[in-house]
Amino acid sequence: MTKPAFDPEKSIEEILNLDAEEAQANAETIGDKPGVTGKKASEFNFDIKPEELESFLNQYVVGQEETIEVIATKVCTHFNRMNLDSKIPPKERLVGNIKSNMLLIGPTGVGKTYIVKLIAKKIGVPFVKADATKFSETGYVGGDVEDLVRDLVHEADGDIRKAEYGIIYLDEIDKIASTGHMYGPDVSRSGVQRNLLKLMEEAEVDLKTPHDLASQVEAAMEAQRTGKVSRQKINTRNILFIVSGAFSGLEDMINKRLNKQSIGFEKSKVAGEARQDILKKVKTEDLIEFGFESEFVGRLPVYVVLNELDEEGLYKILKNKYSTVVLGKKLDFRAYGIDLSFTDESLKLLAKKAHSEKTGARGLLSVFEKVLIKFEKSLPSTAIKKLTVDRQVIENPGEVLRELLIEEGIQSFQKEFLVEHGIYLDFSKEAVDRLKEMAGERLKSIKQLCNDLFRDYFHGLRLMKLEHFTIPREAVDNPDDYLNSFIKENYSK
Ligand SMILES: Nc1ncnc2c1ncn2[C@@H]1O[C@H](COP(=O)(O)OP(=O)(O)O)[C@@H](O)[C@H]1O
Ligand SMILES: [Mg+2]
Repeated sequence: MTKPAFDPEKSIEEILNLDAEEAQANAETIGDKPGVTGKKASEFNFDIKPEELESFLNQYVVGQEETIEVIATKVCTHFNRMNLDSKIPPKERLVGNIKSNMLLIGPTGVGKTYIVKLIAKKIGVPFVKADATKFSETGYVGGDVEDLVRDLVHEADGDIRKAEYGIIYLDEIDKIASTGHMYGPDVSRSGVQRNLLKLMEEAEVDLKTPHDLASQVEAAMEAQRTGKVSRQKINTRNILFIVSGAFSGLEDMINKRLNKQSIGFEKSKVAGEARQDILKKVKTEDLIEFGFESEFVGRLPVYVVLNELDEEGLYKILKNKYSTVVLGKKLDFRAYGIDLSFTDESLKLLAKKAHSEKTGARGLLSVFEKVLIKFEKSLPSTAIKKLTVDRQVIENPGEVLRELLIEEGIQSFQKEFLVEHGIYLDFSKEAVDRLKEMAGERLKSIKQLCNDLFRDYFHGLRLMKLEHFTIPREAVDNPDDYLNSFIKENYSK
């Protein structure tokens, strides 16, 4: 799939056109290529190669190349294996085969969810995302982990076969690690781990739960669609589980282990290392130490550690042609007919600000909001149709907006005056400065103030047969006196 080059300075129409094309391309190559094409498992069809998925992901995701290499490979292998297995009679399949369920470790906003969503979109399998915390509270009775599997059926529009080749993504998995106590929340956390473990391996999940009306409706729909009574169970053998978390504190456990191993050697070597580099040395025993049951970790054969995003990475995200941060903001303004553009310098500054928020790419969104919210509020009720975000806008948004509104107020008054009276009123720089002060003192908009002061100027100016007149500072302070003396001085000439 080759795509036209993106230029962030392109007009919004061009960008939108490009997106329309892209959406079409995606519809052809992604949406219409569902992993499961038929109702029978034997028709499961998957033919994406690791490198194809890898380069697809790298188009969107910044700074996670090593991680993506592993994820893309294991995801493809998983689905290609399912493909192969579906052609082998069940009795001849390997017993105790462990599938490539994955653990992603990384702080917030570095692309964990993004990567998994992109994968599900690309390969067109049903996808469910949830936070493990929702299962970890003591006494929580409403839902259990099996609901995730039923949710997959819902995502697959009731098609159980399709759901059986889906992806379940569980975030905040570190919150179901136990801390070693034998009471309280820990008991339920270990319980959640054990329940998940069963699903991650192979389990049969009842489609209907007595308390869940939605799944019963789902079953009824399936029956209606296929004309027969639907199957009641979903097998999880082929479902891919991806779990993730920030795992704060894990690096200390890894460090402790490394230090223990290197007693007498260079103990200090790990001290100054970046967190992500320590995490990359994670081993099964560290995860057990962190609070996971060994059987649970055993069902997660693939670990990857995502990189933190530095300023440069955040800037690259902004420049990425698929980045929804810039495009989303452009569309927000476009909704009011305003063309928003960004100088390259402004994007660098935004990336810098976002980096200091320490929430990865999420910081980008909040920084954009902070800088632009006042413009987004005020510009729609003006005639301003274009805003270029540059260094000044970012460093001093309030001041820039005020200037813009003043300029716009004056222009708007000038325009109306010209249309109504055929006279072009100009303002000296000093006059503008005085108007600004006065607008502040009287709490009026510049346009209103100009109207109050100069509405009647056309009588005198017509008398003088003037088509162009520049208003000086004195006129702002005493409009009537100034005009009268001007007429007296010049009429006789
Ligand atoms: N590495 C990245 N490359 C490009 N965009 C990213 C990256 N990381 C995050 N983003 C953007 O930030 C948003 C939030 O990131 P997300 O994947 O939800 O982070 P988390 O790691 O907390 O799951 C994504 O939807 C995406 O737009
Ligand atoms: Mg997330």
